[in-house]
Amino acid sequence: MKNGKCKAGIQRIFHFPLSVLHFKLMAESLAFSKTSDRKVIYHELVPQIESLVAGETDLVANLANITAIIKEAFGFFWVGFYLTKGNQLVLNAFQGTLACTRIDFDKGVCGRAYTTRETVIVPNVEEFPGHIACSFDSKSEIVLPIFDKTGEVFGVLDVDSDKLDDFSQTDAEGLRKVVEIIERII
Ligand code: SME
Repeated sequence: MKNGKCKAGIQRIFHFPLSVLHFKLMAESLAFSKTSDRKVIYHELVPQIESLVAGETDLVANLANITAIIKEAFGFFWVGFYLTKGNQLVLNAFQGTLACTRIDFDKGVCGRAYTTRETVIVPNVEEFPGHIACSFDSKSEIVLPIFDKTGEVFGVLDVDSDKLDDFSQTDAEGLRKVVEIIERII
């Protein structure tokens, strides 16, 4: 905070074409193209997320804003983090409906991403044995592991859609770039 103004405003938005959607929330801004091409949107979001976290050291504040950005840009049903605490994954910053608080490492899609250390895409959650249904509106899901500097799984990024088969390699790659930003600041 400087002179009563929030420092986290993102200058890069001024370099985007006029066709972009531009949301203003207080002094915070998010800009992305009005396109259904998710690759383009991820490409635009990543530098904005980098700028945002560069201006803030509080992890929860950054994770919270990242969930808001992803949800706003793509309209996903639920976006959130579960972080490793003891022998469980514990709910952290999220955007969406009420969610289960704790997930054992061997349970659900989140547990699968934790134990395999790989991104898991579930086209139809009803066909995933052991899927944890926090909401019946969730139809497909992608979960990415987040690694700390020692290589341990720090937590996972979980994104749910209310559409079947809504996630592809484009999302895996785009969200991996977001996770890599988090990995640099933890
Ligand atoms: N579906 C997840 C649980 C978390 S909620 O989707 C928010 C899972 O199976 O691990």
